[in-house]
Amino acid sequence: MQAVILSGGQGTRLRPLTSTMPKPSVPLVNRPMISYMVDWLHGYGVRDIVMSVGFLADGLRAALDDAGHDGVEIRYVEEHEPLGTAGAVKHAQQFLDERFLVLNGDVLTAFDIAAEIDQHDRTGARATLALVPVDDPTAYGLVLTDEQSRITDFLEKPAAADVPDNPRINAGAYVLQRDVLDMIEPGVNASFEHDVFPHLPTEEIYAFDAEGYWLDLGTPERYMDATRDLLDRKLDSWLAERLMAGGLAIEPGVDTAGCQIEPPTVIAEGCELGDGSRIAAYTVLSHGCHIGENCELDRAVLQRGCTLGDGVRVTNAILGPGVQIGAGATVCTGSVIGEGAVIEPGATIGAGSRVEAGATAAA
Ligand code: GTP
Repeated sequence: MQAVILSGGQGTRLRPLTSTMPKPSVPLVNRPMISYMVDWLHGYGVRDIVMSVGFLADGLRAALDDAGHDGVEIRYVEEHEPLGTAGAVKHAQQFLDERFLVLNGDVLTAFDIAAEIDQHDRTGARATLALVPVDDPTAYGLVLTDEQSRITDFLEKPAAADVPDNPRINAGAYVLQRDVLDMIEPGVNASFEHDVFPHLPTEEIYAFDAEGYWLDLGTPERYMDATRDLLDRKLDSWLAERLMAGGLAIEPGVDTAGCQIEPPTVIAEGCELGDGSRIAAYTVLSHGCHIGENCELDRAVLQRGCTLGDGVRVTNAILGPGVQIGAGATVCTGSVIGEGAVIEPGATIGAGSRVEAGATAAA
């Protein structure tokens, strides 16, 4: 089976993490986000992946090479300007089989994609869309179906009165027949959601009810939710085995003797932890982070090579690669600090702040 993974978006909602690297290569618990999707597909026997890329494409290629995906062939199809979800797949048409998967690359999921393919083959659909239930349906585009699971309508952000029973949204995972691409003009920006699916006749487009874990990783809040879910082993991943014994995944050679460490926590190789520091649950330290003495890290995600002075406090925040935080500084909940930013000693980064990549935040 073949899959196209859409990885060419700008990732604006995840800035500043995506200012210096493409969203699919942003590390999620020390592995590129997109690698979880490749692992999931591999688990279902998908060995042929076409990665549809645009923005900062070289970074994605390098991240996937480092992550190591033996047994999966990954080809890259690059756009010079964003063509939208459907335009991007049209652009990759020459590499595509008669029937293939299309996946939004910014999703963490574990549903049974083989069952979606089986259903697609059984019904003879031209397009099958995985749907997932949603708590607040008024914020999304809903997909309506008949009793035979055929899609009858798409409702953009409906008023509360128009919400059906069992509201479901598009999960960004499709099985398509290649001739669906005949509906798309080459080289023109087009989206499946607006320009293709609503124009397919009901008897050709089916819904598949996806059961199990599914999360759109597009915002910092969801990124943190995904981090916690991986550490809680809510879905199977490379981490599950590592966290098994006591909920700690600490690489050999990291000296934790002088610190208090609360599970579940992940600490990668080359990290140095100062005496008296507390590393509370759901903290992730990537390769080569240096933590000073008496620091307090609570639900903190530090990407590779961050340096924290003594007495730094970070709560429920994400630090991009190489961030430096001076002694006594505080990073409050919901903040996101871009790659290489410097927080000066004693500074306070207020709740929900964004600090741009390379910027300096003064005390
Ligand atoms: P935001 O800017 O934060 O909305 O993120 P995004 O640009 O990634 O857009 P969105 O989340 O709607 O995209 C869904 C998926 O489609 C993501 O995996 C994107 O990488 C991908 N995508 C969106 N637009 C394009 C495009 O023009 N070309 C390609 N190749 N992929 C795209």
